[in-house]
Amino acid sequence: MFARHCVQRRDTLWRQAAIAAGRYTRFNNGLTHQYRALSATTTNPPKTIFSGIQPTGVPHLGNYLGALQQWVKLQNESSPDTTLIYSLVDLHAITIRQDPALLRQWKKESLAMLLAIGLDPKRSIVFHQSDVPAHTELMWILSCQASTGYLGRMTQWKDKTANEKDGGEKLKLGLFSYPVLQAADVLVHGATHVPVGHDQAQHLEFARQIANGFNENYGKDVLLAPETLISPAKRIMSLTDPSTKMSKSHPNPKSRILLTDSDDAIRSKIKSAVTDSFDGITYQPDRRPGVSNLLDIFFHSGEAVETDDQVALAKHLEGLNLKAVKEEVAMAVIEVVRPIRERYENIVQDQKMLDRVAEEGKEKARRSAEMVLGRVRKAVGLF
Ligand code: TYM
Repeated sequence: MFARHCVQRRDTLWRQAAIAAGRYTRFNNGLTHQYRALSATTTNPPKTIFSGIQPTGVPHLGNYLGALQQWVKLQNESSPDTTLIYSLVDLHAITIRQDPALLRQWKKESLAMLLAIGLDPKRSIVFHQSDVPAHTELMWILSCQASTGYLGRMTQWKDKTANEKDGGEKLKLGLFSYPVLQAADVLVHGATHVPVGHDQAQHLEFARQIANGFNENYGKDVLLAPETLISPAKRIMSLTDPSTKMSKSHPNPKSRILLTDSDDAIRSKIKSAVTDSFDGITYQPDRRPGVSNLLDIFFHSGEAVETDDQVALAKHLEGLNLKAVKEEVAMAVIEVVRPIRERYENIVQDQKMLDRVAEEGKEKARRSAEMVLGRVRKAVGLF
């Protein structure tokens, strides 16, 4: 199989993610590439990684390639003094009405999934957001700073307002202030780096702005503006409509691959992925979104790729027809999903262990949030 003959990629995740986020310059120095940090926060002080995912069902391949895979790599590659904190953001999930029993079940399953992808609760703090009230307390304090004008201009809010105007559901305050809670999530733990897919970039820019604004009002260094690490697989698109991103909420289940999908389901979804009738295999996201999305998925699935980028990958595959390329992509995806699915099936049965992990995560995350929240309370005069 193609992937088996491949050469290991040498860039570490830190480098890839930082380059993708545009905070490092990459320059050629003889035979080796070197990277020059442009930001002061990436040098000596220990790093704190924070990220979150909504526990609203089984994560899909976009979640995995765009975020979860990076969480695990950061965990495995980071120096021992780096703190890693990953949250199941259940309070974000209820900005849309949820069935309570289903949400309870999803929380448990999502925790099992975070362990199945390779998060180690001894190394990373894994916790349910609502177990740590410091998030909502900081959110309230930041709400008293946040500009409604800025929030009203944010893309996700504007999309929802357009939907409401078209007769969609009436919008709620929680959805409007969602980015403030997200800012509190990262700021309350003093996160230095936040690994996410591209759709979260605007929210994190808001978090940076609110941190800087707060510091201007209350004294510098109360809050730390974190860096966003946009994943190399920054936007995985829907298989059935490659002009929109792969999402949990798309009505067509064939639009996404779930991390619990069987090998056959993966094959069948990729086989029926929308492509085009142009000749050959080329990477042209604007002209050929479906084919380019498959190349993105192939490129980012697994550690081993022979080529430096998707254009080179397309060249490598150019002798194959689309059917054969889809089979290659399906095989690469199966190799990613199968071990996760198998681990998940075991882990999700072990309720006792999941309860213990959640309890330990809660304690650790509460302790982690204490220092910043104490500083903020003092800064605003609450004590
Ligand atoms: P959520 O739950 O929608 O998605 C979790 C992560 O998956 C990434 N992602 C994708 N990446 C590439 N292609 C896709 N099609 C794709 N779909 C989703 C997202 O970018 C995200 O990294 N608001 C956040 C959760 C959150 C959070 C935070 C994240 C709450 N607080 C603090 C970071 C820091 C969300 O709804 O993600």
